[in-house]
Amino acid sequence: MKLVIATRNPHKLEEIHAIFNFQGLDVCSAFDFPEIPDVIEDGDTLEANAIKKAVEICRATGLPALADDSGLEVEVLNGAPGVYSARWSGEGCSYHDNNLKLLRELAGKENRRAQFRTVIALALPGQNPQTVEGSVQGWIIETPRGSQGFGYDPLFVPAGYNQTFAELSSEVKNKISHRARALNAASNVWNHFFQTSEKP
Ligand code: IMP
Repeated sequence: MKLVIATRNPHKLEEIHAIFNFQGLDVCSAFDFPEIPDVIEDGDTLEANAIKKAVEICRATGLPALADDSGLEVEVLNGAPGVYSARWSGEGCSYHDNNLKLLRELAGKENRRAQFRTVIALALPGQNPQTVEGSVQGWIIETPRGSQGFGYDPLFVPAGYNQTFAELSSEVKNKISHRARALNAASNVWNHFFQTSEKP
């Protein structure tokens, strides 16, 4: 059976493949369908965007599609940047721009608690889409550290660790991350579809 991962983000694909063995599934991604335009992520929630991506790619390809949408939710900012994490400091902004904005918004604030959250949607032809989610708690530090990962990783220290996601090895990040937890939830809830297992 074929499964399309509804993304053209190479970091995301790499992490998903590092976390999951898609046993028995012939997995491809939106890269394999260059004729399909990018899905516009204009939902107000992570759930809405994940569902939109999965449903549009499923309709366009006629194949089961899996999509995720993730964001950083900062407690003292009432959950911002959340669904707007990618383009928080404007269209075409870089990860660096967003990290600078995060530091500005938190300047002088004592509460630095935050979480990353991922929603995964699965769309099967002719069926209603379903979602699962995963999150990881942590806090935002004052100076970026580390060079691995992407996005807000250099500013995010997961609970129980002293290093940022950008300092931790990808093996560690891929065990505890929001995306890993959401993928585990996906494999538990949709076990009839995914005969998958977490990589040891
Ligand atoms: P996406 O929905 O997974 O593309 O994530 C949207 C945005 O959230 C990304 O552009 C990043 O800024 C941020 N983000 C999502 N996941 C991560 C992560 O694992 N580390 C750091 N930033 C992330």
